[in-house]
Amino acid sequence: MKTKNFTPADPERLRGTFEPSFRPEPAWYPLLAARVLQPNIWQRLLRKVLHRQVDSKLVSIVFYDRPIVVWRDQNGAVRAAFDRCPHRSMPVSLGERTPEGGLRCPYHGWEFTAAGDVARIPCLVGESSANISLTMIPAIEQSDMIWLNFGSTLSRPPAYSGAHPESQRIIRQVVAQGDLLSTAENALDIPHTAVVHRGLFRSGKKHPIEAISRRTQRAIEIEYVGEPAPRGILALLLGARRSPLRVEHWDRFLLPTTIEVEYRLGPRLQILVRAFALPIDPRKTRLLTEISIHSPFPFALLRLVLEPIARLIFAQDNRILSRQAQNRSSFGPQPEYSTKIDLMGSELRRLLKRGLRADQDSALNKTEEAQEQRTKMEI
Ligand code: FES
Ligand SMILES: [Fe+2]
Repeated sequence: MKTKNFTPADPERLRGTFEPSFRPEPAWYPLLAARVLQPNIWQRLLRKVLHRQVDSKLVSIVFYDRPIVVWRDQNGAVRAAFDRCPHRSMPVSLGERTPEGGLRCPYHGWEFTAAGDVARIPCLVGESSANISLTMIPAIEQSDMIWLNFGSTLSRPPAYSGAHPESQRIIRQVVAQGDLLSTAENALDIPHTAVVHRGLFRSGKKHPIEAISRRTQRAIEIEYVGEPAPRGILALLLGARRSPLRVEHWDRFLLPTTIEVEYRLGPRLQILVRAFALPIDPRKTRLLTEISIHSPFPFALLRLVLEPIARLIFAQDNRILSRQAQNRSSFGPQPEYSTKIDLMGSELRRLLKRGLRADQDSALNKTEEAQEQRTKMEI
């Protein structure tokens, strides 16, 4: 049935939110968890026994279709470069780190300094006069993550707040089988939860709630008011079965890539999930996720129970994303219809479209009044 409430989404936007060319919006991006660069236990043991210098893995990671190599130099500082040897385009991440903290290419053995300049060319007699180097990307370690600067004028990544100062954190990384827009919409979409995650949360009777959306040029926040205390397995875990908790819930998206879901249940429990959505290619998005929990329950116990549930929820969502992407590619650009409760999807389309044009740093400096809108729905 079609009614006047239905509006077709922009078909141009359906097949991805970015062009295949390498064009991230100018910003700092957290590309990986810092612990990924840690040498494994055997390497650490060898270092201890042989008194070798700080060792590092070479990690190759794809961002907007481009492989990037990340490593630590001999002093432990983080370095990053596009993963391409300037000699014959070999991935330098397949080589090794030199004792001086640079890289050695696995093909002809060219060596680069930690700053990316050519240090040695095997077999070459005399000095190389060419000014050759890896294409380096500024990198910083902050909040247990490795951040890379793709054109931001800020000297450091922005500091994120919102989590309770005593909360404990878990950082996890997963790959979603969808583009940035579909992945972000799925993470922040309420109406699918009772269908896709039936029994985990929001099962049972429908409740009327109100969604207050607040939008600015760079962000959208939706606050859900009147949400019932969780049911299903989560309710049992959180103790909501015995005494109903007051639920506060916000979903947010902040340009260029930050997804946030925040729950407060009663005065003593806060869960803030912040995921950085990092496009790998037009079909896949890496989610570097930081889960902050402030709770009276022992953290180790909560983690033991919540982690498998979070993995299950993600697997359910990923199945949906993957089949949705396959179907969109089979059918090609077609209109998709939204209703007024597809709040996040419509806002995300607007934001991401704008984000590709906006200059982040200048927009950040403006103070801006958020526009508010209220929508009634049932969950
Ligand atoms: S391709 Fe790297 S040294 Fe030749
Ligand atoms: Fe979901």
